[in-house]
Amino acid sequence: QRPVLRLLSCPGTVAEDLRRDEQPSGSKETGFEDKIPKKRFSEMQNERREQAQRTVLIHCPEKISEKKFLKYLSQHGSINNHFFYESFGLYAVVEFCQKESVRSLQNETHAPSKGMEVAIPFRSRFFNLKLKNQTSERSRVQMSNQLPPSSKKLFEVLCDAENIDDQLNTLLKEFQLTEENTKLRYLTCSLIEDIAAAYFPDCIVRPFGSSVNTFGKLGCDLDMFLDLNETRSLSTHKTSGNFLMEFQVKNVPSERIATQKILSVIGECLDNFSPGCVGVQKILNARCPLVRFSHQASGLQCDLTTNNRIALTSSELLYIYGALDSRVRALVFTVRCWARAHSLTSSIPGAWITNFSLTMMVIFFLQRRSPPILPTLDSLQTLADAEDKCIIESNNCTFVRDLNRIKPSENTETLELLLKEFFEYFGNFAFNKNSINIRQGREQNKPDSSPLYIQNPFETSLNISKNVNQSQLQKFVDLAQESTWILQQEHLDGPSISGNQPWGLVALLLPSGASRKSLGKKKSRKPANERIKVLLESIKSNRTENFTDTNGK
Ligand code: GTP
Ligand code: MG
Repeated sequence: QRPVLRLLSCPGTVAEDLRRDEQPSGSKETGFEDKIPKKRFSEMQNERREQAQRTVLIHCPEKISEKKFLKYLSQHGSINNHFFYESFGLYAVVEFCQKESVRSLQNETHAPSKGMEVAIPFRSRFFNLKLKNQTSERSRVQMSNQLPPSSKKLFEVLCDAENIDDQLNTLLKEFQLTEENTKLRYLTCSLIEDIAAAYFPDCIVRPFGSSVNTFGKLGCDLDMFLDLNETRSLSTHKTSGNFLMEFQVKNVPSERIATQKILSVIGECLDNFSPGCVGVQKILNARCPLVRFSHQASGLQCDLTTNNRIALTSSELLYIYGALDSRVRALVFTVRCWARAHSLTSSIPGAWITNFSLTMMVIFFLQRRSPPILPTLDSLQTLADAEDKCIIESNNCTFVRDLNRIKPSENTETLELLLKEFFEYFGNFAFNKNSINIRQGREQNKPDSSPLYIQNPFETSLNISKNVNQSQLQKFVDLAQESTWILQQEHLDGPSISGNQPWGLVALLLPSGASRKSLGKKKSRKPANERIKVLLESIKSNRTENFTDTNGK
């Protein structure tokens, strides 16, 4: 839906229209289009952050005329784009062309009239719109969906696909973050930044992790990083003559204590003043201290950390890998969904494999193909220029940032083959003696006895899957072997029967027992509705319906 009122041409509009027009038809609603994004990570982040600063979030009455709503808001300036969504009420995200419009709207906005409780006066960019005349508005607006598909819908679309390659691409399309959901994530960071700026005026709250690394599923958490570096670099660069001016500051014994103190006050602030932030927990004694909260209006579960620049760099590296070849994201999404469906991953921390580790395993596997589908991190480092040089806490984080300088792969293997080979490769991997290492793209001897050893690409003496125990690893290996078997059967059986039979990817996503049973009965045809019902029942009874859970893990 384009805004009804666009009074003047807006900065950003032309660029946005161009980007939309570049996309192949049928993918216009997706944030990460089928076409490979060629933007640098930092460019993309800066552009979206600037957009978010011109954006407001409005809780609307349930029945509202879109046309009148836009006309009312455009008193404050032209609107670049907007959308509505539902999350315990109706919300609108409205992006103005100019930042000044937000200020103008804030100046016209009233504090709520006093009831029994007392409002804490805080002028945020999160508003509540009320109707003066309750009966005047009747029309309903078109909603943008922010949730992953239900298991039922997913099975239906997967069963309707042409072949396994098509199934993997369909799964990606159904789960990937939409343009609107991405906007909502950047807006949420921007709203939190407003709060943090009360203490640290030059801070930036940047999203990282799966919200930005191109591997995020609808419903995944929002990882945020409170970046205070801007403040620090100001103090180091501004020197003149023979003098050096420094701020008077308080000192603490370690970086960790500084992080804990900063997050503690931000946590208090979010809890006390930030409208819409609920369930604030300060988890300050964790290896990586964080503040966890739920941003009610966006429906996003948020983790805020600081002093976590390496994680942001990891996100940038994954963004590059995700953008280099269109097969990468399809394969990663499938493996993540498969792992979730079989409870190999969980939203609760523990001895489980994480999505981050699974992504590393897929990248490593794609580096091992012949010819390779993805380059090693060492070769990305070789392609780097002076501008890409980056050392964080004495770790070398240098790699090429310009996607156009990386040669595309000559490998033409299909997704179906790659998926089968992925399961076969890890179903037979010598985990007892070898480690996974995307820096060199080859197996190496494990430096310690952890059951699963995946070298942290930037802090190379660390293992990112240190938490995984032997029994979880064995479960992964067993399921990988079983999945190889299922895909081999598919291949032997020839082209699948049309209709809603559980074939290909659906068979892989079903609980072990159910998929074998269904495959055995492949040729006995029941009415489509009944077959789907049986499938859903078997999933419910095995409690694995959560592979489309809204925690996205
Ligand atoms: P989701 O499961 O969709 O949230 O994936 P995610 O990639 O966002 O993972 P998560 O929220 O657990 O972590 C966010 C980011 O932190 C990851 O993308 C990594 O960059 C980083 N990260 C997570 N776990 C580790 C780890 O064990 N070691 C290191 N070095 N970084 C990690
Ligand atoms: Mg995450």
